[in-house]
Amino acid sequence: MPTFHKKSQQCLILFLIKNKIVLTKEPNLKIQIHPGPKGGLFGLKFLGEIKENPLKFYKALHQNFGETVSYRIGPVKIFQLINPDHLHEILVEKQKYFHKTKPVLRVLSKWNGNGLLLNSGDSWAKQRRLINPSFKKESVESYISIVVNQVKSLFLDEKKSLNMAAKLNELTFRVVAEALFGQKVNEVAPQFIQQVEALQELAMKEMMAPVPLPDWFPLPSKRKLRKTISFIHQTVDRFITECHLEGLKKKNFLTEMLMAKDDDEEDEFKRGMTDKQARDESVNLLLGGNETMGTALTWLCYLLAKHPEIQDKIYDEIINTLGDRDFQKEDLPHLKLLSMSFKEALRLYPPVYLLSREPLRPIEIGEETIQPGHQIHIPLFVLHRSEKWFEDPDEFKPERFSEENIKKIKPNTYIPFGLGPRACIGERFAHMEAVASMATLLKKFKLTGVEEPELAAKVSLYPKGGLNLTVLPRNNNE
Ligand code: HEM
Repeated sequence: MPTFHKKSQQCLILFLIKNKIVLTKEPNLKIQIHPGPKGGLFGLKFLGEIKENPLKFYKALHQNFGETVSYRIGPVKIFQLINPDHLHEILVEKQKYFHKTKPVLRVLSKWNGNGLLLNSGDSWAKQRRLINPSFKKESVESYISIVVNQVKSLFLDEKKSLNMAAKLNELTFRVVAEALFGQKVNEVAPQFIQQVEALQELAMKEMMAPVPLPDWFPLPSKRKLRKTISFIHQTVDRFITECHLEGLKKKNFLTEMLMAKDDDEEDEFKRGMTDKQARDESVNLLLGGNETMGTALTWLCYLLAKHPEIQDKIYDEIINTLGDRDFQKEDLPHLKLLSMSFKEALRLYPPVYLLSREPLRPIEIGEETIQPGHQIHIPLFVLHRSEKWFEDPDEFKPERFSEENIKKIKPNTYIPFGLGPRACIGERFAHMEAVASMATLLKKFKLTGVEEPELAAKVSLYPKGGLNLTVLPRNNNE
């Protein structure tokens, strides 16, 4: 009898291993939740307030109810968390029990497919291993000349007021597109940019739709969405075909992805990625690296125009480091004030102003249970401006990020690129692009004439109606 028992136990263990079944204990979260406000019938009041001004809503919740608060909109219970230890628990320690929220998955997967941002589990881990090498230091630095040349060709002899937000969005699109597909993308850039802008507008409408409609629904907006997605997919497919025809010789993100091999994969045929997966990843990088970056640079320009004394110090730093020549990779560590200013701009205006997660199965959180379908919201805009963690939180003070002061920032209170394994893959690229582009721009021009913009929190955080700035050539101005 005992032998039989032992055998059946062994069989069970073998079955579990063979089928990759892991028996884990439920990961209860060590978080105490405070009940939040009541939102009337189905919480519709909240929906209206969030649509009107999400930042005001998240801030008021924090001020009135503290660091952990829950409220309900219809069947969805939302847990707003701001405490850095809780963020670590959700995004690092227990991240595998959460995924991106359903509205985000439902809408973005229409064009991002199964790219990194939305992918999960083993498939995500394999894709991240395949793409990671393209974001290593040497690889990222090899794209510096693209940034410098794009800035030089987009900003010629401006001596006028221009919509800086639109210009910088065009710049960041051109940069990431050329890094992905090579120079040939410049021929289709204007049309591409138009379609991507249309997509970003449609994305917000789709995410806020109270009743999601299927894509075939006969509405003009749905027709436009289908046409836009089809243009973007067909263009990227064409680039992939051309890349194969050229023998994957040119160095760019796309050829690197098509050649990448995963050493952890035993099956020879599964080591690389398919053309379909490379298309999804390309669209992911293109959109992920465009809007966030465009708005980040816009806010940096706004802050520098508002603080001419800091802009002038950055100008001196650039001239002392570069002299007459163009920016190159050796300059990256020397433009310290510029780099600190970029970090501080991301603190005050995090382009991704809200991180959200949903549990894969019921998880106890304090006295409550988060069910699949419930959401965790982490409003970075509120976290980064918390008086508890930052002195004068609304002030622009780049020196917070000096080598000495940065050590005083409590871990997990400043996370513009997210946290844990799902943090942004493009952080190093973003930093390189910010420093290289601003060094090239500010060396030639002075930014002035700033007006106070209204904040608009849609897919990312940007100034409503753009940002008008006067761009003066430096030598005319001194
Ligand atoms: C200032 C610029 C940027 C900011 C503020 C930013 C912010 C973020 C954040 C917060 C996340 C994590 C989202 C979450 O946890 O839900 C993320 C993920 C991601 N970002 Fe960025 N990003 C920036 C630039 C870029 C660039 C330049 C690229 C590519 C060229 C990029 C590609 C991605 C991708 C692919 C992911 C998904 C990573 C994964 O889940 O494995 N981002 N980004």
